[in-house]
Amino acid sequence: MKGIVLAGGYGTRVHPITLGVSKQLLPVYDKPMIYYPLSVLMLAGITEIQIVSSPDDLAAFRRLLGDGSSLGIQLSYAEQDKPRGLADAFLVSADHIGDDSVALALGDNVFHGAGFAALLQEAARSIEGCVLFGHPVRDPERYGVGELDERGNLVAIEEKPTSPRTNLAITGLYFYDNDVVDIAGRLRPSERGELEITDVNRAYLERGDAKLISLGRGFAWLDTGTHDALMEAGQYVQVLQRRQGVRIACLEEIAWRMGYIDREACYRLGSRLSKSPYGRYIMAIAETG
Ligand code: DAU
Repeated sequence: MKGIVLAGGYGTRVHPITLGVSKQLLPVYDKPMIYYPLSVLMLAGITEIQIVSSPDDLAAFRRLLGDGSSLGIQLSYAEQDKPRGLADAFLVSADHIGDDSVALALGDNVFHGAGFAALLQEAARSIEGCVLFGHPVRDPERYGVGELDERGNLVAIEEKPTSPRTNLAITGLYFYDNDVVDIAGRLRPSERGELEITDVNRAYLERGDAKLISLGRGFAWLDTGTHDALMEAGQYVQVLQRRQGVRIACLEEIAWRMGYIDREACYRLGSRLSKSPYGRYIMAIAETG
């Protein structure tokens, strides 16, 4: 399975912060936002990942993450010349996807929860159709919204409905079989001129091939879409890390625990950042963890 992190867009909802820097490079407490969705793909066992961003911002992502070899993964980069919609990612990354299945992670979504890695790996094992991840929220009108029947099967999806029928938001993590490239290629832009991910998901739903995994209580799905949400996401990470002494979305630790790099390589990565608590944490877990 291939991975894509979509990290473009104008970030208008958090202007003026994003006038000078890509939204997905903003800090969520102690690390850049993109670490969080990237960590999700790495935990799913995906090691060939393409970062998609705007022409202006791509160089900064490359500077931050390089070719991935230090983390034992392969990172490539592709340009989305304009924010044409989330489903445009499958067209931009068609060569990267090739004949494989693909996971799309939105560059501004933060997930955290016990057992998440096992759940992701299980879902990624054999993809037929699409697998979506749902999470209950208080303000479903801001998201894609799913409706389940009494047996928990997905029966409808709407994008930002004015009167949502449920509180089940569809999160920014999507697993698809290879048909997604064709499906995206046949889409028409929506009223707001974008290729909508919800239209892709609806195409799978109509052919009976869309599955939803509910991330219920005990899972955190954090938004970074507003100034307050961005601040709260940072505070969540800060509180949890301080209390538990473990870090969320530490790429170097994940690379080691997933077996992409060995303990010595992990330690070396930490020692390059040893002036920061983040770097010292990596050194410590590589020594003792
Ligand atoms: O966060 C989950 C939600 O993401 C889903 O519930 C919705 O169904 C889905 O449409 C999407 O809604 P948003 O309103 O959050 O999408 P937004 O346009 O903000 O884009 C999400 C991220 O993707 C954001 O970081 C910018 C980036 N992006 C967006 C577009 C449209 C791109 O990189 N390229 C694009 O063309």
